[in-house]
Amino acid sequence: MSQYPISMEVTPEVTAFFDPATNTISYVVKDPASKACAVVDSVMDIDYAAGRITSENADKIITFIQDSGLELAWQIETHVHADHLSAAPYIQEKLGGKVGVGQNITMIQDVFGKIFNEGTEFQRDGSQFDRLFKEGDVYQVGEMTCFAMHTPGHTPACMVHVMGNAAFVGDTLFMPDGGSARADFPGGCAAELYDSIQRVLALPEDMRLFMCHDYGPNGREIQWETTVAEEKAANIHVGGGKSKEEFVKFRMERDAVLDMPKLIIPSLQVNMRAGEVPVDEHGDPMLKVPVNKI
Ligand SMILES: [Fe+2]
Repeated sequence: MSQYPISMEVTPEVTAFFDPATNTISYVVKDPASKACAVVDSVMDIDYAAGRITSENADKIITFIQDSGLELAWQIETHVHADHLSAAPYIQEKLGGKVGVGQNITMIQDVFGKIFNEGTEFQRDGSQFDRLFKEGDVYQVGEMTCFAMHTPGHTPACMVHVMGNAAFVGDTLFMPDGGSARADFPGGCAAELYDSIQRVLALPEDMRLFMCHDYGPNGREIQWETTVAEEKAANIHVGGGKSKEEFVKFRMERDAVLDMPKLIIPSLQVNMRAGEVPVDEHGDPMLKVPVNKI
């Protein structure tokens, strides 16, 4: 009997959509036994310098789902992304389905609600989302049962979503030659990230792992799929049995010299609202730039 609440024998069809502007990979995950599908980590395009938000990436996903005759059951946000805008509300308006994120979204809303000086109309209870997942929660994509693992460290609200024999790891892990994501955002913690990564690496060896980002280190082509066995053996930050002490020291030194993500300011304002762009007192979409606060 498996320690996990789902059958990992199910093999969903996974279609990836790569956004070269933010190096994000979005996924459509199809239940093999029905027409139901999920979207993981969609992207809305933004030209921040021009204050222009467009939908080329999201439209590709919508067209794919429509042309394949699929029904959208869920949109999953693995976490509150700091480097791209979610397209969840745009896609939901066209295709329906529910939008879910980790329940610790409330911690992100609390911290960044203050930083962006949001008024009382900004709810900090996660109610912008249809579902707040906690550790071990299960949900259905057609006949396929999926579950969420709470994997804090990169952010406090990070979840890895396991759908059959495929796991969507968000920013807990990168490809083996990419290592791991930073752990220095508010509420982030390198030691927690190490523990979360160990939980991902404890999934079955042949589990397919799908990344949220890839930056093609050392000039290699962009990739997004690997396995637990490959990460365990070769991940440059945690593979080969690296200790927690080694990882934490390395991660903290590295994070101290990383620049802020280019789109962190628009991304957080939008993504903490489940992808809705905030509006000003006239009801017009408007973004803020807090000075010297991030
Ligand atoms: Fe992230």
